Amino acid sequence: MKIHHLGYLVKKHDKALKEFEKLGFEVTQDTVFDEYRGIDITFLAKEGYVIEIVSPKEKDSVVSELFKKIGNSPYHICYETDDIEKSAAELSQNGYVMWEEPHEAVAMGGKRVCFLVHPFMGMIELVEAGE
Ligand code: NI
Repeated sequence: MKIHHLGYLVKKHDKALKEFEKLGFEVTQDTVFDEYRGIDITFLAKEGYVIEIVSPKEKDSVVSELFKKIGNSPYHICYETDDIEKSAAELSQNGYVMWEEPHEAVAMGGKRVCFLVHPFMGMIELVEAGE
């Protein structure tokens, strides 16, 4: 599976964005509010490295509990797959546990994403390939 982006969890979205820009990252997709997950998302890139900044916008967002544990931190690598169900099933056989079932992501052009966790790996994300 091809790497799509690295997800980076932060509390202060705009302040974090400015810091990434100071390091040479450029915004490739302006901030989008994902209502389903209660989060703000911005995509940036530098030298081919794509980073997704994610911050909780609601108390019960999908990352609110995670943020309490890990704070500002990179927390997942997202991989592209032609068949999200098949890839998720294969990962499940390899010890990964579904953390968030496949569901459309407004910040990813409406493509479905899902999240899985592995006891030795932490979290990974899958996104459907395509435009
Ligand atoms: Ni992501």
